[in-house]
Amino acid sequence: MSTQTTATPVTVTVTGAAGQIGYSLLFRIAAGEVFGNRPVNLHMLETANGAKSAEGVAMELADCAYPLLNRVLITSDAAEGFKGTNAAFLVGAKPRQEGEERADLLAANGRIFGPQGEALNDVAADDVRVLVVGNPANTNAGILHAHAPRIDRTRITALTRLDHNRALAQVAAKLDVPVDDLTQMTVWGNHSASQFPDVSELQLNGEPVAEKLDREWLTGEFIPRVAKRGSEIIQVRGRSSAASAAYAAIDHMRDWVVGTPDNDWVSVALPSDGSYGVPEGIVSSFPCRCVNGEWEIVQGLEINEFQRERIDASVAELSEEWAAVKQAGLV
Ligand code: NAD
Ligand code: LMR
Repeated sequence: MSTQTTATPVTVTVTGAAGQIGYSLLFRIAAGEVFGNRPVNLHMLETANGAKSAEGVAMELADCAYPLLNRVLITSDAAEGFKGTNAAFLVGAKPRQEGEERADLLAANGRIFGPQGEALNDVAADDVRVLVVGNPANTNAGILHAHAPRIDRTRITALTRLDHNRALAQVAAKLDVPVDDLTQMTVWGNHSASQFPDVSELQLNGEPVAEKLDREWLTGEFIPRVAKRGSEIIQVRGRSSAASAAYAAIDHMRDWVVGTPDNDWVSVALPSDGSYGVPEGIVSSFPCRCVNGEWEIVQGLEINEFQRERIDASVAELSEEWAAVKQAGLV
């Protein structure tokens, strides 16, 4: 059966396209996992050094004979890579090594996002959706936001969906239930060890489940396990997560295009509008629903003292990262 379509192609930019996340991500985008039955123009934005390797990846993409892959561009020029882009996956950045925190990458990676923000501001499509994956993802998204005033606040996001998925997987294993039976997980704050994976609103088949999870397990195992999962992967695998990160990035962008189910939400980091006491502009993870193609922070959740402390601690770290960005003259 032919999958040929006459729909207008969507332009998708992936930075760091020759890296390990790129190697998982590109093939899934080309297969139609984000935009469904819509042709894709794929822009691979790499450094000059990474361009040759990106060419090899492009050869493999061609060898897949994807019916939906319309055109592939490889470039090291941000203005060319972001021209007319409808969806930008900003993966291109250095990963941390064992023993480092993600914030240690700020000096090396932060400077990537000012110029990329300016280029997006100048040449991206009006409906652009931006997902920052490169670490420290929240603060990099903040830098980008400061350099791209034309782009609406809710269209610049950072990836905490991997943390969200990790949290769901841990609870599903603990309760021995299918992961799909769980809804309304929330990750608050920074994509860092200070993040707060929160089960307060979690439901199992539509029923509250927090009471079934003992507090000692939650505070002693679950929260630190999810928050430090990235380090655990680096220790065991020897390199930072890649396939699971690409999978989460696909989840994030697909839900942004298709929408979230009525009875659920997902975790998305985006510049705060002041919700839940997070200072305006700080890029924090929140529970979000996607309605008519726009992320909306879920409102009206009751926050108890324990939650308040955890959210505030992660937001305090984000504020420190932001102060460092300002001091370094990156915004
Ligand atoms: P990698 O080193 O395998 O690949 C990074 C690629 O980015 C390289 O090919 C490099 O040439 C390219 N690059 C560097 N600077 C660039 C620039 N200015 N423009 C375009 N390309 C550029 O790294 P990876 O494992 O793919 O990870 C990429 C980033 O994603 C890291 O910062 C990592 O920490 C982060 N990450 C985030 C999450 C998350 O959940 N937010 C999860 C996993 C990894
Ligand atoms: C992750 O959460 O796996 C990534 O952010 C990589 C890292 O440095 O932990």
